[in-house]
Amino acid sequence: MKNTALKDLNVGLLGIGTVGGGTFNVLTRNAEEIFRRSGRHIKITHVADRNLEAASAFVAGKAEVTDDAFALVNNPNIDVIVELIGGYGVAKELVLTAIANKKHVVTANKALIALHGNEIFAAARANNVIVAYEAAVAGGIPIIKALREGLGANRIEWVAGIINGTTNFILSEMREKGLAFSDVLGEAQRLGYAEADPTFDVEGVDAAHKLTIMSAIAFGMPMKFEQAYTEGITKLQQVDIKYAEELGYRVKLLGITKRTEDGVELRVHPTLIPEKRLLANVNGAMNAVVVKGDAVGPTLYYGAGAGAEPTASAVVADLMDVARLMDASSAQRVPYLAFQPEQVLDLPILPIDQVSSAYYLRLRAKDKPGVLANVTKILGDRDISIDAMMQKEPNENDTEADIVILTHITVEKNMNQAIAAIEALDAITGNVMRIRMEELSK
Ligand code: HSE
Repeated sequence: MKNTALKDLNVGLLGIGTVGGGTFNVLTRNAEEIFRRSGRHIKITHVADRNLEAASAFVAGKAEVTDDAFALVNNPNIDVIVELIGGYGVAKELVLTAIANKKHVVTANKALIALHGNEIFAAARANNVIVAYEAAVAGGIPIIKALREGLGANRIEWVAGIINGTTNFILSEMREKGLAFSDVLGEAQRLGYAEADPTFDVEGVDAAHKLTIMSAIAFGMPMKFEQAYTEGITKLQQVDIKYAEELGYRVKLLGITKRTEDGVELRVHPTLIPEKRLLANVNGAMNAVVVKGDAVGPTLYYGAGAGAEPTASAVVADLMDVARLMDASSAQRVPYLAFQPEQVLDLPILPIDQVSSAYYLRLRAKDKPGVLANVTKILGDRDISIDAMMQKEPNENDTEADIVILTHITVEKNMNQAIAAIEALDAITGNVMRIRMEELSK
């Protein structure tokens, strides 16, 4: 048989830590299978890492190693740069330099794409190079491929996902073992999924980066990270997880983006979802994303959202796309944001106080007559309808009781007013705990 093999794809790897090491191992172990699929040998020829000694030991002579990342992005023998440094400091400069030097880029850097994707894609377009970022969202789950290609026939209506493994692990442990947030945080960090800055996980920033990217490619709009509403899990109490469960719900940190007539919802926050939903049963550090398309209906994608080889799986798949498409014209490639550049629309983002949602409310009330009547009047006056209510008996020697209310859907602005009025009641002590609820059924 005639040998039709194309020239090798020479890869320069920036960062050989967890994901870089996984990428190196997967490319080595599956080299033959990858070649059979992509038609080119994909070879990591150069590695740059600050820790020269560890990097040299890892690659064991199979690639050139340096601590100068700029030497790689300026090296004419390298076709594609894999950026696994993270953050948007030097990583941004390296990626833009690689692009200016007409190198393709594969990155797992969600912060970089969510904040600077618009600038990076404009530069990539001007230089006719690919920038691929499957590994930036939900690790090994091919959600970028699904949204940009597999679901291309659909008008995407909404996307909702568990896209941060650290917080999902924490919430799972809180529910299963009855532990407090602070008890499980340390363990989650020890597992190695957490961001360099762990507040990015627990405050929802990491999830907002990933949601921003999915939102842009689902609806064909620029990255709008600055307008994402972001609320983490640090204020959640064990008791809320317990009460939610008694009412048939689980609490998950969800990223939700939805197309509405008034604008695009782009929000990350703890959310009650019915326990019978598949998403409610995604536990531990796993990720899952539901995409609702008008033709296909709801579809679910589940898998490891972090870790060495799961993330490497996405990086290598991107490299294989580069191997196949590097010689194609830009018209033959999948557009960066799934939509043709001139069709990307600057859709408005709906401010959180205009978003409609159902709510879980927990209030602490003095155990005396008329309190509930006052609370329900405040809700009724604002047209907020109650769906379920539960009052817990005060503990022995306690004169205050927890009241839990589930409401029907209302605009957040109304709920903010109602909460302020409830908190102003003499019989209510402390703040009202509010968690948004989603049915995720249509
Ligand atoms: N810190 C992230 C997580 C890692 O916990 O999911 C993957 O992006």
